[in-house]
Amino acid sequence: MFVVTGSTGHVGRLVAGELSSRGLRQRLLVRDPSRAPDIAGAEIALADYGDAEALAGALEPDDRVFMVSLHEGPEQRIAHHRSFIDAAAAARVGHIVYLSFVNAGPDAIFLHARSHGETERMLAESGVPWTSIRNSMYADEIPGWFDADGLNTVPAGDARMSFSYGPELARAIAVTMTQSGHEGRVYDIVTPQAVSMRELAEIAWAVTGQNYRYAPTSDAWWEERWRARGKEAWAIEAGLTSYAALRAGELDVTSGDYRALTGEDPLSVSDIAALVADRLPLHA
Ligand SMILES: NC(=O)c1ccc[n+]([C@@H]2O[C@H](COP(=O)([O-])OP(=O)(O)OC[C@H]3O[C@@H](n4cnc5c(N)ncnc54)[C@H](OP(=O)(O)O)[C@@H]3O)[C@@H](O)[C@H]2O)c1
Repeated sequence: MFVVTGSTGHVGRLVAGELSSRGLRQRLLVRDPSRAPDIAGAEIALADYGDAEALAGALEPDDRVFMVSLHEGPEQRIAHHRSFIDAAAAARVGHIVYLSFVNAGPDAIFLHARSHGETERMLAESGVPWTSIRNSMYADEIPGWFDADGLNTVPAGDARMSFSYGPELARAIAVTMTQSGHEGRVYDIVTPQAVSMRELAEIAWAVTGQNYRYAPTSDAWWEERWRARGKEAWAIEAGLTSYAALRAGELDVTSGDYRALTGEDPLSVSDIAALVADRLPLHA
């Protein structure tokens, strides 16, 4: 059976849709059944990553599982991921496809990329066949890089980054869940080019005809803003290290993996910006 975690969230919902469109039976592991996506024929099982007993009842031998990563600080995220991987190993599932981040590893500058690296290490040691689908920042959220005046103010200098588009992530995940031969492999599912923040503003301008600009602020400016909003310490560290990682080139990743998995080229940043143009802030 195919098993999908996180189906009440962004990527898991798209993965469940991909499997459904292929006519495959699946079990959705959710925390609140009333929010599960409406997928014909899908089984629903109640399971929190922190609830070993519920996970033991929800996972079965030979299941092929999509494991979403949780949006939490490193300590809690690693404990939850450990709990899930232990339960999956005890249940003798057949395969785990994990949603990771580009350049995940112990030396990553980006806080979350370090806990993704730790999770990949746990998977490698678990004895369960596994595959990592690494993403960069979501292309679906390009509108969020601009404020209401069309300004992108992140402290990125001239550094370039690629993005990852949700539907393409879901398609790549579905391919690796449904085919053999992806065990032990790590795939970067990213846009075909990395762009600077200035180029991103030019792209937004080109697809809308509106005046989008890049006017970088400082790390200190962002830190103060996030503190004023009451963000938790780990979330502030994640934000600041994401910009430091961007400046250091950690998000400047391109790859032929999407084409190798699907036979198609991923959409360009411009293509995706055009698709989300109605959510860009200067949209009339
Ligand atoms: N690359 C980017 O730009 C970007 C942006 C945002 C997030 N992310 C990362 O991507 C990963 C998640 O992907 P997403 O975008 O699909 O996230 P999402 O939309 O926030 O969905 C998270 C999913 O995880 C489930 N979940 C949360 N805590 C859980 C727990 N303790 N046990 C079981 N399920 C739990 C949620 O269920 P409920 O509905 O019950 O809460 C939800 O279905 C996170 O690691 C996040 O940090 C990346």
